[in-house]
Amino acid sequence: MVTKKTASKKDTKLKKRTVKEKVKPSRKVEGRKPSPAKGSKPSPTAKGAEGDGFIPRIVVFACNWCSYAGADTAGISHIQYSPHFRIIRVMCSGRVNPAFVLHAFELGADGVLVSGCHFGDCHYINGNERAAEQFEKTKKLIRLLGMEEGRIRLEWISAAEGVRFGQVIDEFVSQITALGPSKVADVKAREKPLPDSLEEYERQS
Ligand code: FES
Repeated sequence: MVTKKTASKKDTKLKKRTVKEKVKPSRKVEGRKPSPAKGSKPSPTAKGAEGDGFIPRIVVFACNWCSYAGADTAGISHIQYSPHFRIIRVMCSGRVNPAFVLHAFELGADGVLVSGCHFGDCHYINGNERAAEQFEKTKKLIRLLGMEEGRIRLEWISAAEGVRFGQVIDEFVSQITALGPSKVADVKAREKPLPDSLEEYERQS
């Protein structure tokens, strides 16, 4: 015969077992669940460069006789355009070979613009044709290095084209801002100011 006391002891044991069985599987499921914070966190690339206050670092190689003079014209005419660039005067755009451009990236540039005289106006006859050839080589190298082609640009700007100089700068600054910082240079290089003369550029080489 089963007494009341024995029956209640058995009931308690059964209840305990049922609770344990219920709790066990639910713990396992919780452990496998991906953290909602991880899944919803935006990736760093998803952040807009402009939204992060990114100011692009741009180097402009401008030939002395046309594009550098075009920048002067823009200044004299009080044309408003982005100040986020450093201009390096070279005697002719033909001087700017792939090593020039790549070194500018090593120094912490996010974008490089090469600018010279229109065809037929080069003071060294065909220096700008050479610049165009060099630029194609630079593009290939940029692609090989896994960089965006949009980080480099070639433009022909005359001494009289101050307005155009400002427009090209504004366009290029927007383009590089959209691309975000270049990953070529390390943090230390990016902390230093970019060179603003050929002498300074060569000194840092
Ligand atoms: Fe201007 Fe040669 S002098 S491109």
